[in-house]
This record gives sequence, structure tokens and C-alpha cells, in this order.
Amino acid sequence: MAALTSIFIFSFFLSLMSTEAQYAHYGGTNYGHYSESCPNVEEMVKSSVQFFIDADSTLAPALLRLHFHDCFVNGCDGSVLLEGPGREMTSPANFGLRGFEVVAATKARVEAMCPGVVSCADILALAARDAVVLTNGPSWDVPLGRLDGYRSVAADAMSLPSPNEPVSVLRSKFAAKGLSTEDLVALSGAHTIGQASCQFFSYRLYNYRSTGTSDPSLERSSLRELQSICPASSSSALAALDKGSKDVWDNMYYKNIIAGNGLLESDAELFADGSTRGLVSLYARSGNDFGVAFARSMVKLSNVGVRTHANGGDGEIRRLCQVPNF
Ligand code: HEM
Repeated sequence: MAALTSIFIFSFFLSLMSTEAQYAHYGGTNYGHYSESCPNVEEMVKSSVQFFIDADSTLAPALLRLHFHDCFVNGCDGSVLLEGPGREMTSPANFGLRGFEVVAATKARVEAMCPGVVSCADILALAARDAVVLTNGPSWDVPLGRLDGYRSVAADAMSLPSPNEPVSVLRSKFAAKGLSTEDLVALSGAHTIGQASCQFFSYRLYNYRSTGTSDPSLERSSLRELQSICPASSSSALAALDKGSKDVWDNMYYKNIIAGNGLLESDAELFADGSTRGLVSLYARSGNDFGVAFARSMVKLSNVGVRTHANGGDGEIRRLCQVPNF
């Protein structure tokens, strides 16, 4: 009897420990979170995202960036999705964010099957993963269970990195979110897809660091090409973040940086700075190493500051992603 009791106590603590391990790693998200409450959520999100991206392939990079901007400001809590004056989405740091309609439509579809169960923050985390897969990028399992937050204030978006900040500042902004230099270099590889508006890099073409001339590190044919896309007066045109392959997931982004074809100064600097150069070279040589590192870093990014029932976080399951429930 005593032996049986101690086996029972031992297995009870073992099960507690494994539940702990499941939850502890990322402050509360876990795999299979909706396996009983909404078992088909991943398929629903995937088919909805695919539907939108089939119609407009530029929505794939848009969804990835949207998730990054959600996570970097008050954690991955859907705060970037809330509409209204003074909200995060109105901040200049969030200029050009797109894909909100994909999240709203996907949420409506999920809500029809599983009302009040799946958070907008989780839908966005899944949509970002699916968007990467649909461009031929790596896949990863997304731990789930995020709650949607209540706070969404434009000023908070200043924690986002800017394209003209030095690597030291980018590193400290990432470190403030628990993300390492390795995460910075791997996650910047998201710029293998998508575009940027001239306003973020035209200073490199005409008046770099107030010199009245262009950034000498920019390769000459890229410079001419970009000057024709962005005549000095215009700031609304878009240029590929990854010259020559903006729609496909590959490691050209790193090769482009090394060759002086990085579009944003923050991209170009990753090769110029000694603390990040080695990783840029590694990912330029090995697309596989990049893919593995990117997937790992995305799981970290998508767990930044999450609120969950398990960690006692303050949040809700929004019915509509663009407004709080009350
Ligand atoms: C390291 C610091 C980073 C800086 C300074 C930065 C800056 C920018 C800027 C200025 C744009 C252009 C936005 C526009 O014109 O609409 C952009 C686009 C983009 N960023 Fe970043 N970014 C950074 C990191 C990241 C990370 C970590 C991710 C995702 C994991 C990401 C994903 C994207 C994507 C996919 C686009 C293209 C969006 C589109 O085509 O709609 N970025 N980024």
C-alpha cells in the first residue's frame, strides 16, 4: 500500500512537472492549446490566409510584418489590430502596415465555428507562419494560448526598431524583448520578402548623413535603380527589400547585403558591423542554416510578452479583432 501511495505521489508530481515544463518555457503558451476547444483552428487559418495570398501575394510579407509589430509593442497580444485615434496602428513606426482585413476575415471564420475561443493574437501568429510557408519558407509549430490585450497606445510603438538606427541600438531593442543578436540577424531575414516605401531609404540615395550625396556602401547599379524608383521628390513608391527575389523565400537577402544591395541601412549595417557580420555570412552560404534559425527565432518572437491564463495575464478573447469586447 505504502509503495502504491508513493508511486501515485511520484507520478502526480511527474505529471505536474511535465505540465509545468509545457507551460513554463514561454510564459504560458503551449502546443495543442485548442485541441479540444477548437480542433480545426489551424486548418481554418491556413485556408483563409491562402485564399487572400492567392489573390494578392503582397499580403504574405504584410502578415509577417504585422505579427512582428504586434509582438514588439506590449507583447504578442493583438494590440496592433485595435482601431481608433491614438492607437498603436496610427504611429509613424507602423506606417505601411497591411493585412488587417485578412486577420479580421479569418477571425470571423474561426468565430463562426468556435465562438469566443481563439484570440486574435493567436490567429495572427498562425497567419504569419502560414504566410512564410506559402512563400516557400520554413515551417514551425506555433505554441498557442495568447490572450488579446486591452492597451494599444501609439507612443508605445517607439520600441520598434527604425531603419536608420545603428546595430548597437537594434541589438538593445531586441535584447529588451528577450531576443538575442542571433535572433536579430535571423529575423531580419524576413526582409527576403516584401517591399519598403522610399521614405525609409531615400536619404541613402541623395543626402546620406547630411553629405549631400549617396551612401557610398550602396552598390552603384542598385543606387541608379533606386534613384529611378524614388525620384528625390517622391516618397510613395515601393522598392523590393530583397533585390531580385522579393516574392520568394530564400537567402538572397544576405547575399544582397554582402554585395552592397541591402535596401534599408539597418540591413546593410548587419554586414558592416563586426557583431553580426559572421552570421550574415553564414546565412548567405547556407539557406538551410537560415531557415532553421529563422523558425527558432520566430517561436521566440511570437512569445514575447504574451498574456495567458497560465501566467495570470490580463486579457480577453476579443470577438472582433479591431475592438475590445466591452
Ligand atoms: C531589425 C529591425 C527592422 C527594421 C528597422 C525594419 C524596418 C522595416 C521597414 C522600414 C519596412 C518597410 C515598411 C513599408 O515601407 O511599408 C519593413 C518591411 C518589412 N519588414 Fe521589417 N524591419 C525590421 C525587422 C523585421 C522583422 C524582425 C520582421 C519579421 C520577423 C520584419 C518583417 C518585415 C516584412 C515582411 C516587411 C515587408 C512588408 C510588406 O511588404 O508589406 N522586419 N521593415
